Amino acid sequence: MLKIFKPCDFHVHLREGSLSHFVLKENNKHFQKILVMPNLKKPLTNSNLLLNYRKKILKINKSSEVLFTIYLNKDCSLKDLEYMHKNKLFFSAKLYPLNATTNSTSGVSDIKKMSKFLTFLEENNIPLCIHGEHVHNNDDPYEREKKFLDKELSWITKRFKSLKITLEHITTKDSVSFINSHKNISATITTHHLLENTYSFLGNELKPELFCKPIIKGSVHQEALQKVALSGNPRFFFGSDSAPHLKTRKFAPSCCAGVYSTKYSISNILEFFWINKKSSNINKFLTQNGCKHYGLNYDKSTHSYKRLKNFKFQKYSKFKNDYLINYNCFDNIWLKI
Ligand code: DOR
Ligand code: ZN
Repeated sequence: MLKIFKPCDFHVHLREGSLSHFVLKENNKHFQKILVMPNLKKPLTNSNLLLNYRKKILKINKSSEVLFTIYLNKDCSLKDLEYMHKNKLFFSAKLYPLNATTNSTSGVSDIKKMSKFLTFLEENNIPLCIHGEHVHNNDDPYEREKKFLDKELSWITKRFKSLKITLEHITTKDSVSFINSHKNISATITTHHLLENTYSFLGNELKPELFCKPIIKGSVHQEALQKVALSGNPRFFFGSDSAPHLKTRKFAPSCCAGVYSTKYSISNILEFFWINKKSSNINKFLTQNGCKHYGLNYDKSTHSYKRLKNFKFQKYSKFKNDYLINYNCFDNIWLKI
């Protein structure tokens, strides 16, 4: 048995419409706080869009503290950002490089042109969450994260020394080193980047359900993520990047990027820490490190989980006429009791 604080997911995609109802319900079961991403079909780049989305999500939310993000791009207005900040409409700002992932066609092509917004964030102590990939035609997708560190992130950290940054869903040993050698920056790690590698993704048969951005890397990188997560290092914490796409869009001639992991992510993380004999660091990874980075208080009541062997996992969740594909890695499950 394990007793832990109710976890936080500091990176999740709730989407819109009936899908958001479905997904949020699952989130409410597992998480005390969720940080919700703004890459909707029409990204949340202004107060009208954000207010509308907030209203819908907060109406259906039952039990989690929902933290919203705003989608930064060159069309944002400083005045509008000020208004949203004054009225506490968003918690952090998200930066997507142009075409890096789902709904990022209105992302940022030149980070240097975003200086006035980054200054605003820095001056107002608003965290910046970054999808850290440098995307360029014909560049190797496996190199995108490392290139981002060299070309963009180094520039940002040098220039905005007091800006609080979260490098999202890191996948490489290079990112682990970068975080450890810079101030004011932490990183989220997803379940699937922690538990999978290029071999499990495509070494035998290709698994479209594991296709995501950044693409899953080789075992050398995976081991660096595992080591730092298990260690309880305060600069690294959980953000699932759980990203629901319909099965017909995943198992399709052109597969969209995203792993839907919410249903079993906590079970997977508990099993991973358990088999590595690091259960004493679970609260750090799942709750405390993220809250510390963001300066948030958290609910300290504890919840018990029991381990069931050879559990029959639900691979697909029915949604309308389609399915969502639940990510799971292990044979054993940890169930809340
Ligand atoms: O694989 C991904 N899917 N990575 C992201 O960064 C976004 C996400 C999505 O929204 O589908
Ligand atoms: Zn994401």
